[in-house]
Amino acid sequence: THTITLSDQITFTANEDETVLAAATRQNLNLPHSCKSGACGQCKAELMSGEFEMGDHIDKAISEEEKAQGKVLLCCTTAKSDLKINVPGFNQNALPVRTLPARIENIEIKHDVALLKLALPKAPPFAFYAGQYIDLLLPGNISRSYSIANSPDQDGV
Ligand code: FES
Repeated sequence: THTITLSDQITFTANEDETVLAAATRQNLNLPHSCKSGACGQCKAELMSGEFEMGDHIDKAISEEEKAQGKVLLCCTTAKSDLKINVPGFNQNALPVRTLPARIENIEIKHDVALLKLALPKAPPFAFYAGQYIDLLLPGNISRSYSIANSPDQDGV
């Protein structure tokens, strides 16, 4: 187990057999990410110190120049020693990532846009910030990110 120091604010632990992103998520830290497979670049962070190994990813997600500057993709990086990393925009008061069941309440088609209303469990309430997005997880391991269009004050939908 190694200690990861995040943006000089907090620490968490990571095992050598899990990615830094997976370790952070396991400990309820909400770090920026999307694909979790080295394709989107959303989990890019600056490595300040420590030994690491970065696994498979696509070139588009992080350039050679960024790697030379010490940047890594946390979704495919494993710690080989204690690490100090800097995650731009990290907010330790961010809402935790949660997985919830949802029921389709309504689908409204307007021109080439579909407005999908999802009914969520009443408790615990689903809290989010304006402008946040969610990942819809569907059968067959299909996942896709969508923006939340309504304001956070509309309870349960
Ligand atoms: S989450 Fe997409 S590259 Fe890491």
